[in-house]
Amino acid sequence: MNKDIQEILISTADINKRVEEMGTEITKAYPPGADIVLVCILRGAIIFMADLARQIKHNVAFDFMDVCSYGSGTESSGVVRILKDLEEDITDRHVLIVEDIIDTGTTLKHVIDILATRQPAGIKIVTLLDKPERRIEKRIKVDYNGFSIPDRFVVGYGLDYDQRYRNLPYIAVLKPDVYT
Ligand code: IMP
Ligand code: MG
Repeated sequence: MNKDIQEILISTADINKRVEEMGTEITKAYPPGADIVLVCILRGAIIFMADLARQIKHNVAFDFMDVCSYGSGTESSGVVRILKDLEEDITDRHVLIVEDIIDTGTTLKHVIDILATRQPAGIKIVTLLDKPERRIEKRIKVDYNGFSIPDRFVVGYGLDYDQRYRNLPYIAVLKPDVYT
């Protein structure tokens, strides 16, 4: 185990099992031949999207959006900025937004509002993790959630602290001295 890790919250095996289940559920939710665009919210969702996409038995397009609401700390600023927009035209297509974690919900609400103006056939949300206690933005409906977790800052499987720990194959909590 990485020396900076205090505790593993979700093991690699549990993540893999849940991602497979979610892929099966998502596969069933769309009709055969559905035109699906997976929208990865950079950078945290890339590992989840790579694994999830392989469990979805439809043709899907990949696209990426980069929004920032966080500095290098662990608290949301509430300020959201688009750093990279989609390349795909999503008009009349089924958008599935892929998130790593929904915390306050500020980032996601902003992304949904922007994408909704482009007349997609539908917008659904899939997230690996949800911190329901932290939600400020109540108008978000999460269609698929991997795990609900308590209000703790987590890293791994795509999630970072100051751009580190994204490549850990599990979800973990860091030792307090890492932040100081
Ligand atoms: P929100 O706008 O507060 O919902 O923030 C969502 C974004 O903040 C996520 O997509 C993550 O990039 C980041 N974030 C929130 N909580 C955590 C965490 O526990 N670890 C790492 N990143 C987090
Ligand atoms: Mg993110």
